[in-house]
Amino acid sequence: MKVDIVSIFPEVFDVLNVSLMGKAAAQQLVEVNVHQLRDYAEGVHKSVDDTPYGGGAGMVMTPDVWGTALDPLLTPESVLIVPTPAGARFSQQTAAQLAGADHLVFACGRYEGIDQRVVEHYSQHTTVMELSIGDFVINGGEVAVLAMLEAIVRLIPGFMGNPESLVEESHESGLLEYPSFTKPRSWRGLEVPEVLLSGNHEAIRQWREDQSRARTAAMRPDLLED
Ligand code: ADE
Repeated sequence: MKVDIVSIFPEVFDVLNVSLMGKAAAQQLVEVNVHQLRDYAEGVHKSVDDTPYGGGAGMVMTPDVWGTALDPLLTPESVLIVPTPAGARFSQQTAAQLAGADHLVFACGRYEGIDQRVVEHYSQHTTVMELSIGDFVINGGEVAVLAMLEAIVRLIPGFMGNPESLVEESHESGLLEYPSFTKPRSWRGLEVPEVLLSGNHEAIRQWREDQSRARTAAMRPDLLED
């Protein structure tokens, strides 16, 4: 998979080299290129934003600089991802879908976002997804892209040493994952649940399923309704 990221803070993505993305790059499953948006800006100030039409607070990133940056990166087969709190919810399902793509391009907006015509224009030429990582606002798309990329890359076939560990985790089944325990058996007066020591695989499976349901009902009742 080829990944291009365009941002005015490319150094944020230095962490990709130390996390599990570094492992993916070493295995040649992913090739990431980060581009400085300002390199495509004109004028001495290399300005990338302007005041919003219609008034209001904040600045909007201009379409011309984004057009100049994105034109050479995008092909009809690319998926252009624009992180925004006004986007569709990014989920485990989205991650699985994107893990099958050959080329992802992330356009990181700052300020009040990117002129909407950028999404409108590229939607005529390629797949464009406006995605939110949750119902909260962060200052820009960079951290959202790190989270999305980590979720996507670990699902690329061949990346995880043990693909079974993907099957049982939170959100794969639509439920939250059951709690886990390891040694010692007793810690500060707290015991590991007896059933996990029983060796009875069916009882353990049933207990874990019950725990998953109870935990989902307590923490995320909305998931049971879906
Ligand atoms: N940019 C700012 N907030 C965001 C969010 N919640 N998801 C994705 N991108 C964002």
